[in-house]
Amino acid sequence: MAVLPQAKNIKEMHSPDLSESRTKLSYFLSGWLGGPKLYAQHYGSINIPLAHKHLSVGTKESEAWLLCMQKAIDKQPYEQSFKIYLMAQLRVPADRIRMVSGTNTRHP
Ligand code: HEM
Repeated sequence: MAVLPQAKNIKEMHSPDLSESRTKLSYFLSGWLGGPKLYAQHYGSINIPLAHKHLSVGTKESEAWLLCMQKAIDKQPYEQSFKIYLMAQLRVPADRIRMVSGTNTRHP
């Protein structure tokens, strides 16, 4: 996210020090992927769309976020079919965030 030009807009939504965001996202993804529920253990429960409700997320922003995830997943030694599955699954919460953000009328 810090290096992709397409992700400049979403990078600016985060605090300049990305270490907490990085920890929170990896903790969340651990539980989301069926592993240890690290986010819940450290921070309690979370509703992903609600946690992003204060942000302006339209199609441009959610596609930029998904592109970052695609780049990260591409670096992993996973089977291609699992990479495709993972991206399809990540699109579900990304779309929910875009829908609750209220900016989807600007980016239909
Ligand atoms: C759709 C595009 C997305 C954008 C633009 C986005 C952006 C952000 C930003 C800016 C924050 C920091 C919020 C703050 O500091 O106030 C954040 C937090 C977070 N995001 Fe996202 N995000 C997106 C999608 C997702 C998805 C799909 C997931 C989960 C699969 C996710 C998981 C998280 C988590 C766990 C946090 C930490 C929340 C907290 O503890 O407060 N994000 N996101």
